[in-house]
This record gives sequence, C-alpha cells and structure tokens, in this order.
Amino acid sequence: MIELSAQEKAWVSLIFEKLDKKLGRSAVNLKDTFPFIAENGKYNDMLKEDVTWWTNGFFGGMMWLMYNETHKEEYKIAAERQEELLDRAFEVYDGLHHDVGFMWGLTAKANYALTGNKKSRVRALHAANFLSARANIRGKYIKAWPNKDYTIVDSLMNIPLLYWASREIKDDRYTYVALMHADSVLKHHLRPDGSVVHIAVHNTQKDEVTETLAGQGYRVGSAWSRGQSWAVYGFALSHIHTGEKRYLDAAIKAADYFIKEAAKSDYKVLTDFCQPKDVDYIDTSAAVCAACGIIEICKATGDKSYLDAALKILHALECDLDFSEENESILQNCMISYGHGKQLHHIYADFFLCEAILKLKNSDFLIW
Ligand code: GLY
Repeated sequence: MIELSAQEKAWVSLIFEKLDKKLGRSAVNLKDTFPFIAENGKYNDMLKEDVTWWTNGFFGGMMWLMYNETHKEEYKIAAERQEELLDRAFEVYDGLHHDVGFMWGLTAKANYALTGNKKSRVRALHAANFLSARANIRGKYIKAWPNKDYTIVDSLMNIPLLYWASREIKDDRYTYVALMHADSVLKHHLRPDGSVVHIAVHNTQKDEVTETLAGQGYRVGSAWSRGQSWAVYGFALSHIHTGEKRYLDAAIKAADYFIKEAAKSDYKVLTDFCQPKDVDYIDTSAAVCAACGIIEICKATGDKSYLDAALKILHALECDLDFSEENESILQNCMISYGHGKQLHHIYADFFLCEAILKLKNSDFLIW
C-alpha cells in the first residue's frame, strides 16, 4: 500500500485525469495501428513497418491498464484489437525474438487476467513456449536475438511471462528457464557498483561471458540509463514472481545506483550516466520505467525513501509532459540509444508513465 501526502495524492489524481482524457482519444484513433515513435506529434505505424517489432504490445498493454482502472469500453475495444493484430506476428514467426514477453505479456496475458478470455491464454502460452525455446541450457541463458549469443539486460522484463506460464499449466518447466536466465543476468550484467552491462556475449558451451558491449549506451563499461531501469524493474518483478530475496537485493542495488546518479542532475535522467559532461541527452523513458521498479522496492521493503525517490524522478518529468490534443504522444524526450542522438517520444514511455501513476493510485493490477 502506497501512502501519499494530500498534496501528492492531488497531483497523482490530476495527472491521471489528464492521462484518461488523452488516452481515451488515442484508444479510438490509434487502435488499428502499432504506435512506436512520435515525431512532431504524429506516431509512425509499426504494423506497416514490422509486425514483429518488440514494442508492439505497449499500446495494447496501456489500454488494459486504463481499462482496469476506468472500466471504459473504448479501452477494452482498443486492447482487444491490438491483440488481434498481433496474431500476424505469430504468422510471420521469423524475426521474432526474446521480447515476446513485452508483446504478448502486456496484451494476451493481460486480457486473460482481466477477462478470462481463453483464446488470449493460449496466445500467451504460445509466446511463453517460444521464449523458453530460446534457452541455451549449456550456457545457462536465454538468447536475445537470432544468430547471436548475446544476452541483454532488457530480457528481465520478458521472463515474467515464463513465471506466469508455469503457474498457469502447473508445471515448473518455464520457471526453471526463467530462474536460470535471471541468475545469469545477475551474475554477468550487474556490476559490483550496481550499474549494469547492456549486452553480454556468451560462450555457448558453458556459463561464461567472453565480452561485454556498449549496446545502446555510450561506451563499453558505461551505464545506459534505460538498461539500468530494465534491471531495477526487471529484478523487482522476478522477486515478486518468485519470492527469491537475491532478486530484491539485485533490484535494490541497481536502484541505489540509478537514484544516486539521477540525483546528480536534479533527477533529470541522462541517457547514459557516464556520458560526457558537455552532452545533455536525457531519457524520460528510463525515468518512468525505473520509477515503477523503485515503487515496487518501496512496497517490498517498506522503506519510504524509495517512494520519495520515485516521486522526485516523476516530478522532474513535468516539463516533458504534453497533454495537448495536437500531439498524439504524452511523455517527450526519450532516446532510442546514445548513438541515435535524437530526443523523441517512444510508446513505452507513456506505458510506464501510466503504470507508475496507477501504482501511486494503489491499483492492484500487476500487468507483468
Ligand atoms: N532494446 C530495447 C530498448 O530500447 O530498450
């Protein structure tokens, strides 16, 4: 249970009201597309560009979050439409990757959780099967992409689908794969100072990493902030699903690093915490995702300093919010990667903003 001051409660209600107004319009206008990047206020459509794209579940997931809170029919209609469109990715198959948890966990699994839809349950189980089949049992990890023996820290957000699938079919086989992978990420991605490696290159024959890569961060050995946020929230989710204390400890370690670094720039989250001093790139998507994980840490530990930190991170985003009708997106100034070098909006920023606000409203629906 999150307890807020009267002032914070009023702020959360105000932001939620604005989210509902804007997303109610999006539910109607965007339901037949997979929105990803908004530039000059207009979204592109990944349904036309790449149906297997990793972000194609976020808009549907956000619709379920809003439906659960408001019970407004337009959100349900949009979420169901998104799930139906996503079937085309199963049909394509080639090009699918470890991010199927983002895709079907936030759509089909959410639908089943909220409505009991049996067809959605089967879709989510197919996705879990696909994800667990990517496991390299010798190397003890789940492979991120085809043809490369890489793990990426982002993967922590996909494995909740496996914990769920095991519970659903009453068989531990998916959980074994998820635990194996979470332990690999803990061992190979979380550094002693709490920062995380984005990409680890694995020996395919044994539990060994041969090299780490900068991935979407600034350089090898740096701390890409969205990767850091995947670790904060991802480990927190593994703790919620398994009760294993080592994952909570890992989430806390990653969160403490995140909060310490964010505090250095007044809680404006830089794209990479190690970027050169004269570069002012920020990533608001990292901020909102981390805030979700930090709120979960507060709930798990009862330590209110984590709630204070999450609120500071969220308040620092106020000037990045656009609730106008002209702009289809809300939270501005995300960054795909340090190398991309462009501040844009990405759909998952709005998803995690919505999720963070709902956590502060004490919504009891965990979509992961
Ligand atoms: N690799 C997924 C991301 O951009 O965070």
